[in-house]
Amino acid sequence: MSTTTSSNASITQIVRPARSFQGSVTVPGDKSISHRYGMLAGLAEGTTRLTNFSTGADPHSTLGCMESLGATIVRSGTSIEVTGTGGSFQQPTSDLDCGNSGSTMRMLAGLIASHPHTFTMIGDHSLTVRPMERIRKPLAAMGARINLVDGHAPMTIHGGPLKAIDFETPIPSAQVKTAVLFAGLQADGVTSLSETVRTRDHSEHALKAFGATLTRTGEKLSIAGGQKLKAIEATVPGDISSAAFFLCGALLFPDSNLVLDSLGMNPTRAALLDVITTLGGKIKVLLVEEHNGETIGTIQVNRSAEGLKGAEISGALSAQLIDELPVIAAIAPYTRNGVVIRDAEELRVKESDRIDLVVRNLRAMGAEVEELEDGMIVPGDQQLHGAKIDSGSDHRIAMAFSIAALRASSESIIRGAEAAAISFPEFFRFLDDLAQR
Ligand code: S3P
Repeated sequence: MSTTTSSNASITQIVRPARSFQGSVTVPGDKSISHRYGMLAGLAEGTTRLTNFSTGADPHSTLGCMESLGATIVRSGTSIEVTGTGGSFQQPTSDLDCGNSGSTMRMLAGLIASHPHTFTMIGDHSLTVRPMERIRKPLAAMGARINLVDGHAPMTIHGGPLKAIDFETPIPSAQVKTAVLFAGLQADGVTSLSETVRTRDHSEHALKAFGATLTRTGEKLSIAGGQKLKAIEATVPGDISSAAFFLCGALLFPDSNLVLDSLGMNPTRAALLDVITTLGGKIKVLLVEEHNGETIGTIQVNRSAEGLKGAEISGALSAQLIDELPVIAAIAPYTRNGVVIRDAEELRVKESDRIDLVVRNLRAMGAEVEELEDGMIVPGDQQLHGAKIDSGSDHRIAMAFSIAALRASSESIIRGAEAAAISFPEFFRFLDDLAQR
């Protein structure tokens, strides 16, 4: 693989076809968990020590915000020490810059809304067009005064006392759930929340790890306000959404062999492993442990002798696989029966319109694909050729099509490859080690 930089600092990565996919990797720390540990450590009393913190730019945007709010952070590679504010954030002297990170903006809004200051949260162009009304609404119902521009960032929060609410999440979003739980932790009364689809539950585990009490009765989560958090020591599990690229890469070759260790396998994130099996992967679980409520394991992945079948992904499964759908779609033409994705309209409001970009890039590689408002239909048994891929400055698109490129008949050029650093800066180096040529 080779890299070139153009004058506007967009990095172009050439990905050549491979003949196999082999090796053992430890993917960097989970982005979702790193955000939550970083935020709660900043609010807690004492010094939190985290190892294997995400190397992605997004969780580092969160850490930058926590410093502006008064936390002290010492970074030593992927080991991070956060000395928290003991429950009282300070008035930041500048805007809270969330970069490209929707998680930072949405979850942090809930964490800071009860503090008696004025906060302005900003982000890059992509973040400025993403929907924020979804968190403004429940937080406003709790009494927060939040100003948006046409439903978007920049977001100004005039912090003040909050009251508990009983909330049903209208869209399946762990970020919205988290904003409400973080606000509820500091509100007056008991906040309850129910989800139509059960989304990733890292916030629930993280809150408990930091000493908060949270109860679940059936589908209803409840958190009492006025609880204080205490610092923790924790290792962040490997990011299964980063591992997803390599898991799908391993499906592309008959003799692949991939071992992933220290991998986060939280059941609310691990739907991908079932889809890998449905598609024709063989997964052997070599080790499983639990730390702070999070499941961590070592797995080995091979492709079954029958080759790749197809899959239909819809309903709750689409919500649970939302970050993995681009790479599943990108390898879909190489399956025998194709892949159908429905009920995934949330893909249109991620770091890019991921339905549009996946469809356009698949077509650029010569694939036949039907675009749906809420997904796509990708027929199977198609041979793709290399192409110029437009990442749309979206990390998951850059990485998904680098995987599709491994089985194309000629080399591909990934434009805007630097976007991978949002969640997985080491991606191209790891890919080069795993792809056998
Ligand atoms: C995340 C939740 C998902 C996901 C994002 C991280 C989280 O977003 O796409 O990458 O850490 O809670 P939504 O909550 O908007 O679905």
